[in-house]
Amino acid sequence: MAKAKTYYFCQHCGYQSSSWLGRCPDCGKFGTFAEEVVQATPTAKSSKQSLPTASKPKRIQEVTYSETQRIATHCGEFDRVLGGGIVPGSLVLLGGEPGIGKSTLLLQTALAIHDRRLLYVSGEESEQQIKMRADRIGINTENCYVVSETVTQRIFEHVDSVQPELLIVDSIQTISTEDLESPAGSVGQIRQCTTEFQHYAKQTGVPVLLIGHITKDGTLAGPKVMEHIVDAVLQFEGDRNYGYRILRALKNRFGSTAELGIFEMQGSGLREVPNPSEFLLSQRDETLSGAAVAATLEGARPMFIEVQSLVSSAVYGTPQRNANGFDMRRLSMLLAVLEKRCGFKLGAKDVFLNIAGGLRVNDPAIDMAVACAILSSNVDIPISPRICFAAELGLSGEVRPVSRVEQRIAEASRLGFEKIIISKYNIRSLDTKRYKIEIVPVSVIEEAFRALFA
Ligand code: TYD
Ligand code: MG
Repeated sequence: MAKAKTYYFCQHCGYQSSSWLGRCPDCGKFGTFAEEVVQATPTAKSSKQSLPTASKPKRIQEVTYSETQRIATHCGEFDRVLGGGIVPGSLVLLGGEPGIGKSTLLLQTALAIHDRRLLYVSGEESEQQIKMRADRIGINTENCYVVSETVTQRIFEHVDSVQPELLIVDSIQTISTEDLESPAGSVGQIRQCTTEFQHYAKQTGVPVLLIGHITKDGTLAGPKVMEHIVDAVLQFEGDRNYGYRILRALKNRFGSTAELGIFEMQGSGLREVPNPSEFLLSQRDETLSGAAVAATLEGARPMFIEVQSLVSSAVYGTPQRNANGFDMRRLSMLLAVLEKRCGFKLGAKDVFLNIAGGLRVNDPAIDMAVACAILSSNVDIPISPRICFAAELGLSGEVRPVSRVEQRIAEASRLGFEKIIISKYNIRSLDTKRYKIEIVPVSVIEEAFRALFA
């Protein structure tokens, strides 16, 4: 056998080099290179093996597949994010912060798919601990096998004896292969193990679900290359202090990345939430200032979220700005716009912003609700809870149009709102008489301010 070959990898981005480098040419980080053993001969052999021997180009019309081959997870929200179930032979990575509920989600899925034989491999928990969790979830099935194992060679032995139709591996960071000497969780190990699972999935048609950890800055721990190897990358997120969890697809070769699943963590596992808006809106008192409802879209789904703000005189020299679930830089920008256009002296005020429910919103359509919540708190005049907002704000205070405004208006109307404030530029393509709800078009922020508080 040929001598084991070594390469140097950037531990930050996975850049590969045949010699040691002080600075990574790819990500620019210093001192991140580490040597890793790559046994060149076996990998080359196995990658050759994975090539189908008798492949022949076909006309695209001749290629057949069936949607029914997908494995239903028996969980509407999970299926929706996957694009209608798990595709045979696919490799899916589920990422998320520690304690967010990744193990719970996949164990619960494993238990729910009671009509198929499946194997749950955990490198983090013992079989007893998995059983305790399963008891909490409380679904009974005869087809779910569990094993606590961390070495891929052993895992494939278990796979041979169980012959599962679905394989779940709890945390790729704890799994290692005997071929490499580096510890579990290192770049080389993660890459190699992921590739081994990928070969297994492609050769046997058995889908593999991998759990992956997320680093503090919110990216999947391990090399970026892992995201290229897998077919789908799902992210499980939410605030640990709140019960809501959002599952979104960051990459999906077999479905849309616009879909998103919403769950609630309960004492007995995760519960699906098919209609998020209804419980995200707190039943608030009409007389409280500083709150406004935003008609946002998360992926393809309308979500109505309450934005709360508190503006008070700054006690200390430097005014404080604090935002939960909203980008701080965006908040500073909106404050500057309000200062310039609406003449508020917000520079001498503390501004606190909170998105109800512990959610993180990226939809720019929330801007208008944020600005109005701040204004409402500043002048201490409440905004009626029957009004909602869907518009983006530009740097000069112009109210900009948002995508899919019809869908937002229809949902607002369905939820019983009386008024929705949108951009004037959105109104052109709209048939306003179709909706029961009053549609208020505005072109600059001052107009919205006059409409609300004058
Ligand atoms: P877990 O799935 O272990 O998270 P991860 O694998 O992402 O690290 O979930 C951990 C949290 O979920 C834990 O703090 C307890 C909570 N939990 C419930 O609230 N109810 C339940 O039924 C279960 C199983 C967990
Ligand atoms: Mg876990």
